[in-house]
Order: sequence, then C-alpha cells, then structure tokens
Amino acid sequence: MTLPSSFFGDITPEQFLAEYWQKKPLLVRGAWPGFVNPLPLPAFLKLASRPDAMSRLLIQHEGRHNWELREGPFAARTFKTMPDSHWTLLIQEVDRLVPAVRDMLGAVDFLPKWRLDDVMISYAANGGGVGAHIDNYDVFLLQGHGLRRWQINTTPVEEEVLIEDIDVSILADFVPDRDWVLEPGDMLYLPPRVAHYGVAEGECMTFSIGCRAPSEADMLNALMEQLLMQADPEARFADPDLQRPASTAALGDGVVAWTRRLLKDLLGDEARLTEMVGTVLSQPRRWIEEDALPEDTLEEALADGGRVRPGSSSQVLLQDGPDGSLLLFAAGEVIELDASFRPLLIKLIEGHGLTAGDLGTDQALDELLDDLYGQGTLVVDA
Ligand code: SIN
Ligand code: CO
Repeated sequence: MTLPSSFFGDITPEQFLAEYWQKKPLLVRGAWPGFVNPLPLPAFLKLASRPDAMSRLLIQHEGRHNWELREGPFAARTFKTMPDSHWTLLIQEVDRLVPAVRDMLGAVDFLPKWRLDDVMISYAANGGGVGAHIDNYDVFLLQGHGLRRWQINTTPVEEEVLIEDIDVSILADFVPDRDWVLEPGDMLYLPPRVAHYGVAEGECMTFSIGCRAPSEADMLNALMEQLLMQADPEARFADPDLQRPASTAALGDGVVAWTRRLLKDLLGDEARLTEMVGTVLSQPRRWIEEDALPEDTLEEALADGGRVRPGSSSQVLLQDGPDGSLLLFAAGEVIELDASFRPLLIKLIEGHGLTAGDLGTDQALDELLDDLYGQGTLVVDA
C-alpha cells in the first residue's frame, strides 16, 4: 500500500495539529492520491460473515425514522436480498483483521498510538447512511469508493437531542452549515462532537480512522480496578488513639484524613501511576478466541519473510521507566526492559515491524516477542 506523503495536502501534520486537531473540521480534496481500496466489496461482504468481525447492518425503511439495525455476523445470502437503496453495512476494527487495512493507519502516524482506535469501513447502497449524528472522538473520513455527500455543522454539539424510540442515535435537530460531495481519495477530518450526516450518492465505501479518548469516568473506573487488585485486603482503618468525641454522630476528621492518605499513597507515586495508566490504555478490548491464536512460533512465522507488528494499534506502548529503564506495555501487562532495546521496539511499534533478521539480539527479548505473538498481541503480516 502506498501511503500519502501528507494526509492533509499542503498542510503539514504539525500545522494540522496546531490549527485543526480537536479544533475545527478540515476537508482535504485528494488527501490520498490514487487510493486503492484494500478491501473491495466482495471481500468486505465476506468479512461480515466472520464471527470476530464487528458488523452492523442499518436499513432505512420507507416512512419517517423507520430504521432497522441488525448485528452481524451476516451470511452471504443476506446481501442478495437487500433493497437497491437506503442501507449500509458497517464493520468496526477492520485494521485488526485485515493487514492491508492495518497499513492505512500509517496515514496518521504522527498521532500517539494510544490515541488511535480503529479503522471502520462502511459500504452504503445509494441513499444509505447512518443518519445525522455526533461522535465523541476525532475521526478522519476517507472516501474509498464512489461518492458520498457529507453535511456537517461546524459548531460542536454541547447537549445532543436524539430522535426518540429508535435503535440508532440520530440527532433530532441537525442543521448543516457545510455541504460537500467527497470523491475517492478525499478526506474529511472532524473533531469530537461535530454533527455530520453522510449519504451515499450511488453506492460507496467510506473508511473512518477513528481516534480514542477515554472518558474521565472510564479512566477512573479502570484505575480503581487496578488499585483494587493491588490493595492489601488485610489493611484496615485503626484508631488506637481514639479520644472521646464531642459528638458521636459526627464522622470526625480521622476517617476523612485516613481516606485522603489512602488515595494519596496509591496515586501519589509517579512511577506507579505511569504503570497503571499504561496498563489501562494498552488493555485489549476483547480476548482473542483460543482457536484463532497461532500454532507456530514467531521464528517459524517470520521464516517466510513476514514482519511482526502489533495487531491492534493501542495495545503495545512504550514509556521511559525508572532509572533509565524502558517500560513496555503489552495488552494490559507492563514489562520493564533495558533501554538499549528502544530502537528495536520503536521499529516494532512505529515502523514497519520486525523481520527475522531483527531477532536474536537477546534471548529474553525473543522469548517475550514470541509470547506476545502466541497470545495474539503481535501478529505476523506477509
Ligand atoms: C459511515 O461510514 O457511514 C459513518 C461514518 C461516521 O459517520 O463516522
Ligand atoms: Co460519525
């Protein structure tokens, strides 16, 4: 796959970050010149039959707000009986399943890996789409095949009002202030919560590179889970110096101070917090089925000239560790490594992956990579 030299035309990634990222929409005509669809329709429809593909079918029936949402997998015959227009098939996390789609993430290689979520692909018959909606994260909507008309409202929605009693989240009060028809290779970047409405003009395919922004509640919840796992179940509140209180109804300061100290002790240590954050952010969103895991070793898998790399963009991350060490976060585990492995690990995560020639520097590292391959965190692409 040939990646575009810049995804933003004349605008550099640095300019994009400074002027548009999380700030305002950007339409780039010819963002991906000569884009070749890595998943033409027959292969895309076939993918929808896989139980490990997250596919959804949305059909817009005659009448006002008459939407039907079906969850996959879908047998091939499903699509033979579909109407000529007004339906769309969406598959999330296609980058996890199709190496050539994983390659597409190279177009946004200036973003931190943990900020990337997935590549979602949609096919829409004429008039098809998912309705006017907002997303809570940044998205790069690349037109892959055919034409799609995008209408957006550039002012981010603060509080959305949705159409009631339907299975899809569609804005009840969408009023566009921009309107474009995108052709293959054109790209529309949208910051979070910018309302958008895409309708296929003829059949079309759209590739959405979606970002990831944990909610405060999700982050706290995940950190709490970590803290609970690490907490000493025997440690308990104690007050051997208890004085008779003025009021027995009051909590008193002691228990509040104890709680504050507890939280400070747990979170106050920077190194511990870093470990927890890396653990949380690299956690796999779903476990890979046992029978989908490789049976060969990494060395065997690389023997034919393949390259090993993370199967999912945010699952393998790095951070400087204490005393000049390096922390590798892999699928929710933290591994402290010698900093001399940095160039190799950067190649694994940020580059095109490692080849057979990259193994053999260190036995422990080879074993670690082999384990990560065996558990599906790393994959080998041809
Ligand atoms: C689509 O591809 O139909 C929807 C993509 C999006 O709105 O995020
Ligand atoms: Co959207």
